[in-house]
Amino acid sequence: MTAAIRVRHLWHRFGAFEVLRDVSFEVGRGEIFGFIGPNGAGKTTTIRVMATLLEPTAGRVEIEGVDVTLDPDSVRRALGYMPDHAGIYERVTVREYLEFFADAYGVKGASVVDAVLELTDLGRITDKVVATMSKGQKQRLQLARILLHDPSVLILDEPASDLDPRARIEMRNLLMELRSLGKTILLSSHILTELSDVCTSVAILERGQIVVAGPIADIAARFEAQRAGVAVGAAHTEAAPRDRRRVKLRTLGAPEAAADASRAAAGVVDVEVSGGLLLVTLAGGDALVAGLVEHLVRSGVGVVGVEQERNELERIFLEATKGDMH
Ligand SMILES: Nc1ncnc2c1ncn2[C@@H]1O[C@H](COP(=O)(O)OP(=O)(O)OP(=O)(O)O)[C@@H](O)[C@H]1O
Ligand SMILES: [Mg+2]
Repeated sequence: MTAAIRVRHLWHRFGAFEVLRDVSFEVGRGEIFGFIGPNGAGKTTTIRVMATLLEPTAGRVEIEGVDVTLDPDSVRRALGYMPDHAGIYERVTVREYLEFFADAYGVKGASVVDAVLELTDLGRITDKVVATMSKGQKQRLQLARILLHDPSVLILDEPASDLDPRARIEMRNLLMELRSLGKTILLSSHILTELSDVCTSVAILERGQIVVAGPIADIAARFEAQRAGVAVGAAHTEAAPRDRRRVKLRTLGAPEAAADASRAAAGVVDVEVSGGLLLVTLAGGDALVAGLVEHLVRSGVGVVGVEQERNELERIFLEATKGDMH
């Protein structure tokens, strides 16, 4: 099966400045793919090549198996591209705006506009003038526009960058709904938490190079294995701080009593009580977390919840970039 998006050895140069250096990654059909990197990493440049707006200096990009340089027209039909900070016509209503673009794209029938309005939850404000809409509503309208021609791949450059928490949640829900309709979605961001609970896979780009790419669960497992390898190799020395893991535990009864019990568990380096939760630092991975829970239960402490202090994507990011970010 071909990937929905395939980037192979992509290079791009502006003058003497190499913005992209041998970027390769793939996005499988039906994924929500997070393209993460700090400002200036080259995310928009990569996206503009995908969207047929910029010729690569070298390398290949395919959307649904079609090369963006060889057949840009087919690529545009398969693709919905939402640029960052796109301008938007302000003096028309929501419906007029979408009908204008439906016409321009040669999309027939008012039912398409209605379906898209419904999907993006703009059905109740079809007569609102664009200039008076909130940022979240405008962002949904932009998304509505790129859905009109029913593309199978959506490429969204920083879709949530200016949104408040509620609008972000709405955007996230909309992306998940689009995924359930069979779309493949690539979205860029420099904010990790924005992506962590919606993406299935990620690529981290730093100064024009891919640092790591793939399904979040696979990357996490790879790092876990690496950490275990490091721990075995350095068995006689204390585990380095970066091999440590901090977990949050919610327990029944007084947290202080649970804290005392935790201190006696294997691999526990530090225990804090904060906001009614235990924060336990362990000198290793998952096995120690399981051991801690078992120890607490045996000591008569009811464990209600256990979670990593940082979510998986944040840990991957910190580990992969090792503080090179700036
Ligand atoms: N048209 C251009 N001419 C020259 N340099 C450019 C051009 N477009 C982008 N650059 C440079 O290429 C680098 C990558 O830019 P790009 O916009 O792709 O980064 P980005 O990852 O999207 O960043 P951001 O998070 O700020 O959107 C930057 O250093 C930028 O200044
Ligand atoms: Mg950008």
